[in-house]
Amino acid sequence: MTTADQDLVRYYSLRAREYDEIYTKPERQDDLRGMLRHLRRLFCGHRVLELAAGTGHWTEIIASVADSILATDMSPEVLQLAHARDFGHCEVEVAIADAYELQKIEGDFTAAFAGFFWSHVPRRSLDLFLDRLHDRMGPGALIVFLDNRFVPGSSTPISHVDAHGDSFQVRELKDGSRHNLLKNFPDKEELRNAVAGTLDAHVALWPHYWCLSYRVGAVSNPPAA
Ligand SMILES: C[S@@+](CC[C@H](N)C(=O)[O-])C[C@H]1O[C@@H](n2cnc3c(N)ncnc32)[C@H](O)[C@@H]1O
Repeated sequence: MTTADQDLVRYYSLRAREYDEIYTKPERQDDLRGMLRHLRRLFCGHRVLELAAGTGHWTEIIASVADSILATDMSPEVLQLAHARDFGHCEVEVAIADAYELQKIEGDFTAAFAGFFWSHVPRRSLDLFLDRLHDRMGPGALIVFLDNRFVPGSSTPISHVDAHGDSFQVRELKDGSRHNLLKNFPDKEELRNAVAGTLDAHVALWPHYWCLSYRVGAVSNPPAA
């Protein structure tokens, strides 16, 4: 992991116990209900590899319809909270894994999901991240990303934009610590361009969130049989 990514994981480890408060913002409740229904339609019967699963908020929702989920993250602190959730009848495992090192993850999956991770991927790393994901999953696999839209008054303000076009926020935790975090807010066109060449690409929009879903097309390094 890069130093920036280690800082990101450290921030989410420190935030682990206060993380789920983000899902109680009153102005986002209608959107969250809409996304829940959307994800349940998408993941019905799938064997899901979840990247950057955090405290398992979306894992629990997807578990209500999926066959199995391997929920991965680089922070033991957030995964400990995910592990404590009730996943009903779905077979759910949690494991430490780097979203940029997917070839190290074993298992047979029909779909991949990452909630609120795309926004933390530096723009210059996005193509490589997606190529590796597509290679790992193989042609036909369903891929779903969910993330924030920037909403003034609801989103943390952007502190600056760097030379690469990445935007940053200063986040403060309850312990008073302050963290400078890369957080991008791509629009619909950027999302569609990023996955040009894939199949059935669709961007669903709610006032506070977007969801990109598609199927992997031909890949450069298909997974070994
Ligand atoms: C915004 S949180 C999203 C958590 C969860 N997906 C959700 O939507 O509630 C981002 C997560 O990415 C994880 N993360 C950061 N870098 C990572 C990496 N290289 N590999 C795997 N997880 C990573 C953090 O530990 C954190 O849990």
